[in-house]
Amino acid sequence: MTTLTTQPASAPSFAADPLTLIDVDHVRFYCGNAKQAAYFYCHCFGFTCEQVSDQTTGSREAAHYYLTQGNIRFILTSGLTKDHPASRHVELFGDGVKDVAFTVHNAEAAWKQAIKNGGTSAYEPREMKDGDGTVIVAAIKTYGEVIHTFVQRPQSGPYALPNVKQAHGTGTGKFMPGFAQTKLFKNLNDFNAKNPCGLKYTDHLVGNVELGKMNHWVKFYEDVLGFKMFMSFDDKDIATDYSALMSKVMASGQGLIKMPINEPAPGKKKSQVQEYLDWHNNTPGVQHLALRTDDELHSIAALRSRGVDFLSIPDSYYEQCWKRIEPMLASIGKSVKEDHQKVKDLGILVDADDEGYLLQLFTKPLQDRPTLFFEIICRRGSQAFGKGNFKALFEALELEQEKRGNL
Ligand code: FE2
Repeated sequence: MTTLTTQPASAPSFAADPLTLIDVDHVRFYCGNAKQAAYFYCHCFGFTCEQVSDQTTGSREAAHYYLTQGNIRFILTSGLTKDHPASRHVELFGDGVKDVAFTVHNAEAAWKQAIKNGGTSAYEPREMKDGDGTVIVAAIKTYGEVIHTFVQRPQSGPYALPNVKQAHGTGTGKFMPGFAQTKLFKNLNDFNAKNPCGLKYTDHLVGNVELGKMNHWVKFYEDVLGFKMFMSFDDKDIATDYSALMSKVMASGQGLIKMPINEPAPGKKKSQVQEYLDWHNNTPGVQHLALRTDDELHSIAALRSRGVDFLSIPDSYYEQCWKRIEPMLASIGKSVKEDHQKVKDLGILVDADDEGYLLQLFTKPLQDRPTLFFEIICRRGSQAFGKGNFKALFEALELEQEKRGNL
């Protein structure tokens, strides 16, 4: 692993750079049945279904569900006709991420600059307006069929995100014109308010691209969107006897936006990235979203009790885990404050580096295809990605790949 850059103390001013990205505004999923997917994410992961845009609000082409938790905002979209782009997307790829949207100061200026930098438009600037205010959006294409929408919100009013300049706050207001508050899943929303899962914001979003294309997309994020490389891993870092991958972590938004890009590396058997591509119509896409918690033990216990299916970590992992981590942390005057037995009982992975440690765990795929999954991550000083867990993790992943007949 190589740490290539650290984030600057302050981002360049908007006047200097229209591509100053403030934060992840929202993540849009295209789903076969968004209503049922909304129930799944609310029930299993503790999201609140706040607003909808569907036939009852005048949306004739698609249904959209707005889910929130902490500073995480998801839109789940299903096409209502065969010609809606979501219908085709689901036919080709199954359920998955279509759009990783960024909050910006000026959507048209950001879009124009990205095009000038060599980006391709997904759609031109458009103004969404109602009595509560105006939101301006425009989008560019990235890998596969994923897009990045630039979202310009007003400074105040229902469509402002009061927290956008104050990282990791809460409070979401209204999402967009066209959405209305809903009582759908009210009992579940009430239960979630009383029994929170503790997910706070999107820590990173990982893309899988084809063999040999990682550096192409690294350059795209640098040239078109002004990202900086934050870390990189090669196949010596991320390899088992069977499979390997390479990864470069791109960052923007004063470190609030991190987008690692993976490509498969040749191994004895099929890489997990190649398995993803095989079941994703040989098309790059978002592999996982890492959702941040301040209390890994609480979040994993809550998610397990709700039925979330996590990767199984073998007991043997914990025989080595503390021996590996504790001396490293002791050398910087730190130690793992979580109860070791509880970490093991909950099957959580732990890793440390010279800044601190992190706890993480990965779900199994969230839909029938072995494509998108979530990571639940808690950082205690470490800004890394769990390199020390790669071997144990990949062996656990390979067991699952083998069960699916894809190794
Ligand atoms: Fe991750």
